[in-house]
Amino acid sequence: MKGYSENYWAKRAKQYNKTNWVKNNSFIDAFIGMIPNKHYPNILEVGIGTGAVAEKVSERIGPLTGIDISQEMIDKINHDGITPIVANAHNLPFEDESFELIYMRNVIHYIDDPKKVFSEMYRCLKPGGQFLFSQVVPPDDSISKEYDWLVGRDIHYPTKSEILGLFSPFHSVKQDDFVLEKQSIMNWLNNTCQSEDEKATIIERHRATSAAYRLLSNYEDASDDIFVDIRHFMISGKR
Ligand SMILES: C[S@@+](CC[C@H](N)C(=O)[O-])C[C@H]1O[C@@H](n2cnc3c(N)ncnc32)[C@H](O)[C@@H]1O
Repeated sequence: MKGYSENYWAKRAKQYNKTNWVKNNSFIDAFIGMIPNKHYPNILEVGIGTGAVAEKVSERIGPLTGIDISQEMIDKINHDGITPIVANAHNLPFEDESFELIYMRNVIHYIDDPKKVFSEMYRCLKPGGQFLFSQVVPPDDSISKEYDWLVGRDIHYPTKSEILGLFSPFHSVKQDDFVLEKQSIMNWLNNTCQSEDEKATIIERHRATSAAYRLLSNYEDASDDIFVDIRHFMISGKR
């Protein structure tokens, strides 16, 4: 599917910050830690959401502009160092070569045309500019199909090799994984699902997963929750 529009995000905005991974400091520190310099004159976050990463970037590196398709998501941002703008990542409203640093976290699985969005971000980076990206990925590329099914949202979670393909125009590519351990599936479902039926289906699917998935994700089934490790692929490169 895809076609996750601003209406979908308008509904999720209220609960978004309650999802455990969003404001996890160790994760944000590891992600921002991949930015090589201490200062960049012009910074852009694409798909800024409620500004969880942007707050830290603006305090540690410098003021920034953030775009997001959802007015309701960016309405949650209240920070002097952040200029939020409603815009679509498929058509960034900036001149060529406008930014020294562009970054994105956990957006590309909702994007209709990831190649187009990558070409837009590349276009808006200055030559020599820094790009930083993070994305939830399946615990291993080999179980990509099963992962898309068990998450139950008609979304394709890009594999590491697909992401590396999108990075082919960039040079000086560096990569790392950040694994958020023992993540509560109930916390995620309670703050993201649109109905009890959707929740029940996703729990059922988790309980029907393969031995391979269970081993790779450190799957643990408690009676009232399921806990799994969630892998985030963090990757940087220069234009
Ligand atoms: C999972 S949230 C991530 C938010 C933020 N990057 C973070 O890490 O907390 C995905 C965000 O992407 C935004 N988004 C989805 N499609 C978009 C598009 N085509 N253009 C711009 N933003 C988009 C959503 O509105 C949402 O705020």
